[in-house]
Amino acid sequence: MNAPLIALNNGTAIPQIGLGTWPLDDDQVEQAIITAAELGYRHVDTAAKYGNETGVGRGIRSCGVPREEMFVTTKLDGGYQGDDRAIAGLDACLERMGLDYVDLLLIHWPLPQRDLFVSTWRTFEKLHEQGKARAIGVSNFKPDHLKTLMAQTGIVPAVNQIQLSPRIPRLDHRVFHGQHGIVTEAYSPLGAGSDLLENPSLRQIGQEYGKTPAQVVVRWHVQNGFVVIPKSKNSERMAQNLDVFDFELSRNDLLALDLLSAGNEHGVDADVDGH
Ligand code: A2P
Repeated sequence: MNAPLIALNNGTAIPQIGLGTWPLDDDQVEQAIITAAELGYRHVDTAAKYGNETGVGRGIRSCGVPREEMFVTTKLDGGYQGDDRAIAGLDACLERMGLDYVDLLLIHWPLPQRDLFVSTWRTFEKLHEQGKARAIGVSNFKPDHLKTLMAQTGIVPAVNQIQLSPRIPRLDHRVFHGQHGIVTEAYSPLGAGSDLLENPSLRQIGQEYGKTPAQVVVRWHVQNGFVVIPKSKNSERMAQNLDVFDFELSRNDLLALDLLSAGNEHGVDADVDGH
């Protein structure tokens, strides 16, 4: 079973469900990717900061799926911003992974106090033109950061990857993305090990459909049109997280999940040591 593809603004497409890999180490992530590929995953998300790109590359190269059928995302963090530093940064990522290109390259954080994300974005455009990144986007950007980026460069990010779950619904980001054709990608989509999945109403909704609370949450992301990257190193849970295309949450159940935000509309800002 493969996840459907979502179109990006530059003509490429991304599988709607991918495997999150933070905080797996090289050995764990290699094994996780081999297992995930067998289950039907065709999309893996990593970052220079995760320290596991070597293992990601080993997994991608040994999983038996042709490279062009796998969608690989990586991200460059603060040390690679400004002065074309992203060129050497991406080269080092590709070298660690043993790959010629990534499918999606993201600016990991805007770090607005450094004021370098616009020049970094111009370098990303060069990397895209050179074919080293098939699509380019950002992560942890707020609508104001996106506005600055687009006003100063005219280049719209394909994706903004943000922490997003029924607990942290970030409606302001979603509206802005929708207005500009930016795909919303959700990290920590299951609540990142919080008690979200213990919520009794999720269990009850899952029982209506014969699905687990995690599957209900992944399906909420899917029906909202997000790309979603649940992380698991457990093969049963990986399989569950992809097995969400044989049911549809009712309008009322979607609303019941929206209620789980309980006033936590914006969540907390990602800090530079986390995702
Ligand atoms: P594990 O890796 O042991 O499966 P997020 O993607 O929101 O960051 O959430 C990741 C956390 O959720 C991890 O602790 C992961 O644990 C757990 N998890 C992933 N998939 C499932 C699932 N289907 N059911 C329950 N827990 C899950």
